[in-house]
Amino acid sequence: VFDRIDHVGVAVADLESAVGLLSGTFGMTVTHRETVESQGVEAVLLDIGDSHVELLAPTGEDTPIGRFLARKGPGMHHVAYQVTDIDAALTKLVEDGVRLIDTTARPGLRGSRVAFLHPAACGGVLTELVEPAH
Ligand code: CO
Repeated sequence: VFDRIDHVGVAVADLESAVGLLSGTFGMTVTHRETVESQGVEAVLLDIGDSHVELLAPTGEDTPIGRFLARKGPGMHHVAYQVTDIDAALTKLVEDGVRLIDTTARPGLRGSRVAFLHPAACGGVLTELVEPAH
């Protein structure tokens, strides 16, 4: 049901210095920047082949990424797989007994729909599904 890796999510404390490393030193192209107030996150997407790196900076301390940084410091946050039908994928995962964080899809970046699977069900890796905007 998973088509490909859509992006790797990285939690950062200093967004501009992370953008500088990836776009300057690593030569990736910034393709999108969006603040999602409901998630308490400012996100920057950079192209790498057909996939992306998603840099995530918190808008405050009491946000999911803010708490992640306080607990673990900057670093890998999640891996995201692209699916063509996120509703069908979630239904199948529930049938298979996979523990989900989001049982229904919610709005993601660039008009996509996303849902998170529990890391305990994914070998310790926080896992996201992304259905791109059509
Ligand atoms: Co993501």
